This record gives sequence, C-alpha cells and structure tokens, in this order.
Amino acid sequence: MVWQLRRANAADLDSIMAIETTVFSRDAWSPEMMRAELAFADSYYLVAFNPATPEQIDAYAGLRCLAGSAEGDVQTIAVAERARRHGLGRTLVISLVNEARRRGAREIFLEVRVDNEPAKHLYRELGFEVLGVRPGYYQPENVDAEVMRLTVPDPVTAPAVGQE
Ligand SMILES: CC(C)(COP(=O)(O)OP(=O)(O)OC[C@H]1O[C@@H](n2cnc3c(N)ncnc32)[C@H](O)[C@@H]1OP(=O)(O)O)[C@@H](O)C(=O)NCCC(=O)NCCS
Repeated sequence: MVWQLRRANAADLDSIMAIETTVFSRDAWSPEMMRAELAFADSYYLVAFNPATPEQIDAYAGLRCLAGSAEGDVQTIAVAERARRHGLGRTLVISLVNEARRRGAREIFLEVRVDNEPAKHLYRELGFEVLGVRPGYYQPENVDAEVMRLTVPDPVTAPAVGQE
C-alpha cells in the first residue's frame, strides 16, 4: 500500500472526524476542538491518503510546537483500521519529530492511555521513554495516561554514494 502525506487544512475536518469518532469513541475530540487544533498557528497536522483516492483520508497526526521553543507535543495520531500495520503510524510520528526538530525542539512529549499497547509499542520503538503517570487523565472512562518523552535525535544522514 502507498500513501502520501500533506499538511491538513480546515477542509479535512469531516474526514478527520470520521476517523476520530470511530477510533477514539468516548475519548473522541469534538469537531470544535479539532477545528481549533487545525487552526492554531503553532499546530502542524498531517493527513495521509492513497494517491489513487486522494479524497479519502486514511490517517492523521498532529504536533503542537512553537517555533523556537525547546519543547513540542504530539497532540494526536490515528490510523484508520483499514490502513494499519503498514508503517503509516511510524511514518507520521517520524514526520512530526522531523518538523519539531526543524522548529528547534529538543524534547517531545505525549500522553497515551496505559491500556493502549499498540501505541505504546510504536512510541517506545521510536525512542520515547515513560516519564510518569497522570491518574484519570482520560475521562469519562477515568483511565490513566502514561506521559512519554522523546529527546529529539539528531537527523539521520546517509552518504549518497558508498563510503570508502
Ligand atoms: C497506534 C497506531 C497509530 C499505529 O498505527 P500503524 O500504522 O498501525 O502503526 P505501524 O504500522 O507504523 O507500526 C509501527 C510499530 O508500532 C507497533 N505496533 C503498531 N500496532 C501494533 C499492535 N497492534 N500491537 C503491537 N505493536 C504494534 C509495532 O512495533 C510496529 O512495528 P512492526 O509493524 O514493524 O511490528 C494505530 O494502531 C492507531 O491509530 N490506533 C488507534 C489510535 C491510537 O491509539 N492513537 C494513539 C493515541 S496516543
């Protein structure tokens, strides 16, 4: 499967909310919250789509990071069930990390439900570490959140030709 990423815009709200309400059910953000998130000047939201069906959004992810700030936050990420386990979630998080680095961030934070094993696997694999637990962070279900932090790694560069 092939996807392209692009910056999200206000016109993506309905497509994003269709995934949001399916994936997060009772924890889902309202359309008003999501609209505000997309519009924040320091937000960076990406959507993923199959180039053959560009009108269908399969995933989205968002970063909040003020240019010049040392810290950023992964606000959200969701991949539609039909598109999971093909590396899209990993690609989206790496893209947010790259953008945070460009904006000058040294650390990135996020919260994840303690019972969300897929997401915890993904974040750990990318180098996020558990800082602590926020009791009852997710309401109304009263589920705890793990707070995770990534020390933004240096960009990976590779020579265009083989080294001697
Ligand atoms: C978490 C989520 C974004 C992962 O997206 P994805 O596109 O399926 O993830 P990827 O294919 O990029 O997987 C990357 C790695 O994450 C881990 N991972 C992903 N899904 C996993 C699962 N169900 N179980 C265990 N590990 C998993 C694996 O380490 C995986 O690497 P591998 O496939 O080489 O084993 C997706 O499951 C999702 O949208 N979940 C619902 C929303 C959500 O929980 N968002 C996070 C809120 S904090």
